[in-house]
Amino acid sequence: MAKSLFIKTYGCQMNVYDSNRMTDILAPLGYEASSTPDGADMVILNTCHIREKAAEKVFSELGRLRALKQAKQQVGESMILAVAGCVAQAEGEEITRRAPYVDMVFGPQAYHRLPEMVARASRQAGAVLDTDFPVESKFDHMPDSATVENSTAFLTIQEGCDKFCTFCVVPYTRGAEFSRPVADVLDEARRLRDAGAREITLLGQNVNAYHGTTGNGTERGLGSLIREVAQIEGIDRIRYTTSYPAEVDDELIEAHRDVPELMPFLHLPVQSGSDRVLSAMNRRHNAGQYRDLVERLRAARPDIGLSSDFIVGFPGERESDFEETMDLIRDVGFLQAFSFKYSPRPGTPAAGMPNQVDENVKSRRLASLQALLIEQQTKFNAGCVGRSMPVLLEKFGRHEGQLVGRSPYMQAVHVQAPAHMLGDIEVLHMDSAGENSLAATLVNAAGIASKDVSADAHSARKMAQTV
Ligand code: SAH
Ligand code: F3S
Repeated sequence: MAKSLFIKTYGCQMNVYDSNRMTDILAPLGYEASSTPDGADMVILNTCHIREKAAEKVFSELGRLRALKQAKQQVGESMILAVAGCVAQAEGEEITRRAPYVDMVFGPQAYHRLPEMVARASRQAGAVLDTDFPVESKFDHMPDSATVENSTAFLTIQEGCDKFCTFCVVPYTRGAEFSRPVADVLDEARRLRDAGAREITLLGQNVNAYHGTTGNGTERGLGSLIREVAQIEGIDRIRYTTSYPAEVDDELIEAHRDVPELMPFLHLPVQSGSDRVLSAMNRRHNAGQYRDLVERLRAARPDIGLSSDFIVGFPGERESDFEETMDLIRDVGFLQAFSFKYSPRPGTPAAGMPNQVDENVKSRRLASLQALLIEQQTKFNAGCVGRSMPVLLEKFGRHEGQLVGRSPYMQAVHVQAPAHMLGDIEVLHMDSAGENSLAATLVNAAGIASKDVSADAHSARKMAQTV
């Protein structure tokens, strides 16, 4: 009989990818994905440790799940409760201490051992703790199946980070940089295509640090890998995330110039516009270098749109530093961005720095920074009205006859369109815009041929320049 599996995913897209892989790995053991923890035979929290709030949520969720587990036990059934991901990696022992009813705790490098852990957990009551960084890669042990949702899929090509930004836990929770061999990546991309993916997002904590080996022992960077993925028939859109500015090389910039499948949208975290703060963060770029990089990307791909990450209230950040960040945002112009108050993470250098910024100051800075970013985002969306863009129709909308898709710039686009267009890339005319989405109508009733998705590049270019 099928057992039900509920996975709750927190945090980044790497975790979304890992959750999909866990679903794949557990399928042969008879686990079927469920959309609710109620009555589930196994619940996995795939956690995020990046900010304090993210880690706290896990403990409150565990409290709720404990009740569900007890309810099952009362009727003579059982529930395996597991904590995976970066909180498990960083606070494994804390979890088994504070929540002894948790059966399994394992870090991001241990997923391939899941079947073995499940077997052990069902046999014995004692919690299984697996948070070692194994030398061999977890990818060597993953099954071949592929999870594709809404014609889009994630593909992890790189893991870990050696950059040690002074605020960040990732180098500690995810370990050193590791790139998957080129052939493995291409095989997985083909499988995803066969499973229905038209858009693939290449993932890595530091995706442009990618240097995968080829059969003849040479290494390939991300730019070259993107060209190869673009060759795969049926893959019409490529994205990648997250990039580290100092590692954007000419080859990658040239891929933006030459590869039409590579979407003109790039998430390029800058964190701050102040050189003092950037240096204290141990970022390997200053504000001037970031601006230059944006210039070079725009020269290669004039319609490219940018997104970023910002941290306000890093230790020692003065009002003048914050104003430099605001200036950088005004100068560069972002289509969207993620912004956070600095959150001290135990064990990271910045947590012990003097001059921690007052919470109220952080809140005020975050509010003005977000207001500026939302203003830019709203203006960009408004600038799209009246233009046409190719949109990948990903899913049904909330209203009858409505489909929802993504523009090249990741904007959500709503359109009245026949159901058979699901999974197609259609050129849509943008009729109206809000802060977070656009409403559009079909331009031509027939589906456009695949690979012809850069139609109307001219208007897209103009739009990117309206910011
Ligand atoms: N390259 C990584 C980025 C790390 S986390 C990736 O896999 O996406 C994403 C963002 O969270 C960072 O870019 C940073 O802006 C933010 N962040 C990381 N640590 C933080 C901290 N201690 N406090 C506040 N924000 C943080
Ligand atoms: Fe974190 Fe900096 Fe790496 S933000 S993931 S240490 S590039």
